[in-house]
This record gives sequence, C-alpha cells and structure tokens, in this order.
Amino acid sequence: MTVTIVGAQLGDEGKGGIVDLYGDSADIVARYQGGDNAGHTVVHEGEEYKLSLVPSGAVRGKVGVLGNGCVVNLRTLFDELDQLGERGLQPDVRIAERAHAILPYHRVLDGIEEEVKSESDSEVGTTGRGIGPTYEDKAGRRGIRIGDLRNTEVLRERLEYVVPQKRALIEDVYGVSVDELDNSDAFDVDALFEEFHAFGKRLVEEEMIVNAGAFLNEQIDSGANVVLEGAQGTMIDIDHGNYPYVTSSNPTAGGAAVGTGLSPGTVGSGEVIGIVKAYLTRVGSGPLPTELGGVVGDTPGYDGDGDDEELATYIREEGGEYGTVTGRPRRVGWLDIPMLRHAARRSGFTGLAVNHVDVLAGLDTVKVGHAYELDGERRMTIPATTEQWGRCEPVFRSFEGWPDVDWAAVAAEGYEAIPDNAQDYLEYIERETETPVYAIGVGPGRNESVVRQRAFE
Ligand code: IMP
Repeated sequence: MTVTIVGAQLGDEGKGGIVDLYGDSADIVARYQGGDNAGHTVVHEGEEYKLSLVPSGAVRGKVGVLGNGCVVNLRTLFDELDQLGERGLQPDVRIAERAHAILPYHRVLDGIEEEVKSESDSEVGTTGRGIGPTYEDKAGRRGIRIGDLRNTEVLRERLEYVVPQKRALIEDVYGVSVDELDNSDAFDVDALFEEFHAFGKRLVEEEMIVNAGAFLNEQIDSGANVVLEGAQGTMIDIDHGNYPYVTSSNPTAGGAAVGTGLSPGTVGSGEVIGIVKAYLTRVGSGPLPTELGGVVGDTPGYDGDGDDEELATYIREEGGEYGTVTGRPRRVGWLDIPMLRHAARRSGFTGLAVNHVDVLAGLDTVKVGHAYELDGERRMTIPATTEQWGRCEPVFRSFEGWPDVDWAAVAAEGYEAIPDNAQDYLEYIERETETPVYAIGVGPGRNESVVRQRAFE
C-alpha cells in the first residue's frame, strides 16, 4: 500500500514531520519529484540532520528511493551521505536509473537566467539549485540520466553533444564569457566527464542504481508499505500552480505515479494526504492575496511599508519561517481556502494534516481568506492565470483565537484536548475541503502531533 504526501499550499507546509510520522510504519520512503531545492531537518536520537536529498526515513533505517521524476545533484547527495557516514549512519538510498542528473552548468544557468529576468522584475526567486534548467533538458531530450553514468561512451557522447550548446547559450545569448566564470569547469567536457564518471562508479559500487518502478512494484506486491513523498507544493506545481512562479515539476499526486513508475491505480488506491500549514507562507515572488506585511524583493511592489507588518513578523518568528535551503525570510499570510479547495481537487486528498496550529495560539483573532472577489464576482477557487490571481481580493472570515496551552500535553491526550476554537477552525477546513483532518501538528517535535487516523491501517 502507498501513502502519498502532497503539499497543499506553496511548499514548506511541514511535510517532513508528517512523512516522519507516517513513515514510521513504512518500509520505504520514495521521493517522486524535485531535487535539492527541498530541505528538511531530521532529529534522530538527539542529533539534528539538515538534508536535501537523503529522505528523512532513510536516516531511521528505511529504504530511501529517489524516483525517476527527481533531478539529482550527486555532489549534494554524496556530501550528505558522507556527512551521515561520519556520524555513524549508513542510510540505504537508491536512485532511479531514469532520474536526471543536475550538472554544474544547470546551476550556473539558473543563476544567470534569474539575473536577466530580474532586470525586468520578472525573476521567479528560484532556489538557484539548477532545477529548472535540468527539467528543461529532460523535456528537450538532451538530459543526462543516472543510468547513463554507468556507461563511459554514452556519458562522453552526451556531454559532447550538450556542453557546446550550453557554452553558446551562455556566451552568445547571455553575453557571459565562460572563461571568466569562477566555475568555468562547469562548461568543460573533460572535467565534467571525469567527475560524473567517478560518481557513476560510486553509484555502481554502492549498488544505488535501481529500476525504481519495478523495484517499488515488487516491494508493494510482497506487502511493503511505501510513503511517496512530494516536495514543494500544489501552488508551485508546473501545471496546477501559479505559472510562471512555479518549480519545474509536479508536486500534485499525479506526479507520484509518473515520478516513481507506479500506476495511477496503485497510488489512487492508497491514501493521499494533503499537508496544510494553519496559515500560509511563500518563498520568492508571485501573488499572495492573503499576505500580511511583505518581504522586500519578493512581495511584488512592496517597499517595506505595510499594514500588518507586526503580525507577519510575529508569525514568521514563532513559526521559524526562514527557508531551510536558502535561509530567506518567508512571506506570511492567512490561510487561503480557495487554494485548499483547488489543491484537494487536483490531488484527490483522502485526508489532511494541519500543521503549526500552535504557532497561531495567543492571537485574539485568526482570519482566513474564505473566497475571492474578482471583477465583481465571487470566486471559491483559484483562477487559472496568475494575472487573475494577482487581482483577486480576499473575502475574509474571522475566527476567535485560541489560547497557548501545553501542546506536548495536548499531543499526548489527543484531539479533545485541542482548544475548542482551534477545533472549530479545523472543522471549518474539513468542511470547505470536504476532507477529514487525519493529523494536527502542535509543535516542531516528532511526537508533537495529534493523530486521528494512522496510515497503513
Ligand atoms: P526552483 O524549484 O528552485 O526552480 O524554484 C522555483 C520556485 O519554487 C521558487 O519560487 C522557489 O522559491 C520555489 N520553491 C522551490 N522549492 C521550494 C521548497 O522546497 N519550498 C518552498 N518553495 C520552493
């Protein structure tokens, strides 16, 4: 059986904690998209690990799989594995032979493209990890897949085809001289061949390469429980998010099938859990109708002078809302219900986990964007174009706030111990999304969750 974990908002919903929670009774945790643009902190036996590619479950002795839908930076992956090794852990991580490798030139191009876009204020605010350029090469049929690294001839042939194109792009289109770059090796066939050939050897020696679809199918057929872990979130899905302020993959549940090689039937017959933060955050640019305050450089048109600055700062500090990968302050807003209706439909959530309910504790009033007004019309879900979304005015509903309580005690006692007003808030979310709340996050720790429905049962 599978349990698929999907971000219902803009990423950073606290998926890692829920993967951890439900991963406890899983045998395998498989990522189906994204790369080292995602980040998670794992606390295991008192030690803290900051990871981007090694799935958190792998630190706890599960098999970790990076599916074919992922883009893999092998420098990052091996750095993480080596660091874990130095701390006495030997996680079992497998990579799909069909997954694409992020090459050093992808990162350089990501940076240059963002810089060029910033001249017209149209940058996406990417994490700079080369994610977009790698998926572009995948779709353009000039990518290099993990399986290709095993074969020296194929690897050299592919590099000799693609590297001159990248050089021409950077020099002729962007007017940047490769020789003047700090990392000009990123555009040198021989240097790339040497590094990636060595990576290929290590992957083979450590028996890390698998046919992920076949492997996962066999495991499921023989009774294994598999968590399919989405990175990022619905609103930055390349198809269902607010294009072009998106990542270049599909975090929605359809991506779990395509990005692992499991059938849609297999994914659909399991649970699909949408992860919701009790408020909203966003990294990078693009609209955010329920935004409080703003972040200079990311919030469109914001120059540091806003109405709800203090509240935004309070929530940001209480929730530790700074990027795991980039350290950037996140933009903060009230929960956006049209967004959640959209997310629930796109992925077919069977359950929700609502995180950070404790962060809002102590506020007199908690608001939600219940609907939008657009061109004089009431809208209950997200419009398809970002231009329209940017013009949506939120129609707010207010809830009475809930007190700050001993959340560890709440986690131990269960749902009935959650303050009444917070229960009202959760039940409203259930009604509006037509999805039951399976779990409630009431603190950052592994055990600080109230679980109403266990996975794999
Ligand atoms: P990219 O994935 O680095 O190409 O970035 C594209 C957009 O997705 C940017 O707005 C990023 O801030 C956002 N993004 C990428 N990964 C994450 C994540 O893990 N959490 C939140 N936002 C993300």
